[in-house]
Amino acid sequence: MTDPFDLAPEHEQVVFANDPATGLRAIVAIHSTALGPALGGTRFHPYATTDAALRDVLDLSRGMSYKAALAGLDLGGGKAVIIGDPRTLKSEALLRAYGRFVQSLGGRYRTACDVGTFSVDMDQVARECDHVTGRTVAHGGAGDSSVLTAYGVFQGMRAAAEAAWGGTSLAGRTVGVAGVGKVGRHLVRHLVEDGADVVVTDPWQPALDTLVADHPEVRVVASTAALVAEPLDVYAPCALGGALTDEVVAVLRARVVCGAANNQLAHPGVEKSLADRGIVYAPDYCVNAGGLIQVADEIDPSGFSFERAQQRASGIFETTRDVLALAVRDGVSPALAADRLAEARMRDVGRLRGIWIS
Ligand SMILES: NC(=O)c1ccc[n+]([C@@H]2O[C@H](COP(=O)([O-])OP(=O)(O)OC[C@H]3O[C@@H](n4cnc5c(N)ncnc54)[C@H](O)[C@@H]3O)[C@@H](O)[C@H]2O)c1
Repeated sequence: MTDPFDLAPEHEQVVFANDPATGLRAIVAIHSTALGPALGGTRFHPYATTDAALRDVLDLSRGMSYKAALAGLDLGGGKAVIIGDPRTLKSEALLRAYGRFVQSLGGRYRTACDVGTFSVDMDQVARECDHVTGRTVAHGGAGDSSVLTAYGVFQGMRAAAEAAWGGTSLAGRTVGVAGVGKVGRHLVRHLVEDGADVVVTDPWQPALDTLVADHPEVRVVASTAALVAEPLDVYAPCALGGALTDEVVAVLRARVVCGAANNQLAHPGVEKSLADRGIVYAPDYCVNAGGLIQVADEIDPSGFSFERAQQRASGIFETTRDVLALAVRDGVSPALAADRLAEARMRDVGRLRGIWIS
């Protein structure tokens, strides 16, 4: 067996939950509480093995530490996975058992939605647990986080446009959006309002039908391969991770890459290929923090305020601008510049709080 301490040398705490009565098998990973309690969503997914689930939750929780740090939130990084097919395994009893498990962590970890979990599920979890965000608006929650995720991506794209062309407007630019699900369709709305020409692709026809009904001026292409070969100014990956492969970067004609998808770089080194081709890459975890900002606002003692959260998410423009400027100044990739900024904040605030980061 791999030594768990070797697998997660940076993580503060990893906790397993098992509830045979409901079929709940979950793992919570707390990467860091240097900035505050760990916040991150619950991914409900039919992992092939426990090892795959564990590796995913470790990676995802680490990413949340960096995302919260860069967004200037007083939150640490954590994430949870529930192992199983949500379509067959999810039940009120299971969600409530999961709520009792999260409650047992005493607030060191606060949960939210992720792939396979929705605001209505968080309402159920919250019946057993005080440390839940992403609940429905009817239950005092922040609702669907994709609204401010898309808004933040749009702000990041404006900053990247400024770095590429000297002006923040997307008017007259051709923007390709891969994936018009929850985030992608809101992003398209911002782009159309700003005067961009939008080209989209999505393998799921109902998502395209909804989008085209709202925005008949948007052009649809058959596949992501076709989209990246278009004469785009901006490419916005808004579907799955790993969108930026060597093959995609080789054919990409866009000057800017900025999208919502997590973990866009398919492997280390892709960021260098992007830079070599003169492409401005706005790091994913920098620009897609709007949803985290939205659900984090639920923790405010005065209750959730969409206006306050949106105001905060508009700061993604300055953060992206800072990251891109630092990358130029230090001659490093924007991804590395973002990591450095996040690590500096974790170190500085952690030290103030007496938590030392190596
Ligand atoms: N929802 C949020 O608040 C949020 C926050 C941060 C990051 N993200 C990330 O943004 C991405 C999109 O999230 P979402 O909530 O919109 O998910 P979603 O499932 O609602 O939408 C994703 C869309 O991508 C489409 N898709 C799948 N494969 C594709 C492909 N190869 N090419 C083009 N389209 C494809 C799907 O059909 C779907 O319509 C994910 O990577 C997610 O992790 C989301």
